[in-house]
Amino acid sequence: MKLLIILSFIVLVTAAPPPPINNAQDNVSLLKYNYDNDGTGLYNYEFEQSDGTKQEQHGELRNAGTENESLFVKGSFTWIGPDGVTYIVRYEAGEDGYKPEIEEGPGGAVPPDVSSRHSSDKWNNVIF
Ligand SMILES: *[C@@H]1O[C@H](CO)[C@@H](O)[C@H](O)[C@H]1NC(C)=O
Ligand SMILES: *[C@@H]1O[C@H](CO)[C@@H](O)[C@H](O)[C@H]1NC(C)=O
Repeated sequence: MKLLIILSFIVLVTAAPPPPINNAQDNVSLLKYNYDNDGTGLYNYEFEQSDGTKQEQHGELRNAGTENESLFVKGSFTWIGPDGVTYIVRYEAGEDGYKPEIEEGPGGAVPPDVSSRHSSDKWNNVIF
């Protein structure tokens, strides 16, 4: 009897449809897209998709024409994880390296190891 119950359980479990894996990904549409570039190093872009993915970035050339000329960018990217939680990474990158800050929507927590090292030296050698 016990075996029968276990077997029925196995059949039920294996017969259950697989959990939905963000089916929206199969049919993602672009809701918004903007791109401006004035040709001097100043640019902005943004896009937003129906699956909750978003990105925006602003870039500018600093100290143009000098020995210290560098590109500074600032932006964010957002996505909805397989756990249904919205993740947002806001960042700045320039002379001082890449400085991301991770933010998370309801339903979870950023592991302390990740949130505490967002502006550490680890990211300062990232090359774009
Ligand atoms: C994708 O979405 C559009 C608009 O909602 C719909 O008309 C189309 O049938 C969908 N295609 C698929 C393959 O689901
Ligand atoms: C460039 O940066 C260096 C180091 O910060 C500084 O010593 C130098 O004066 C800067 N040059 C210019 C043209 O601003």
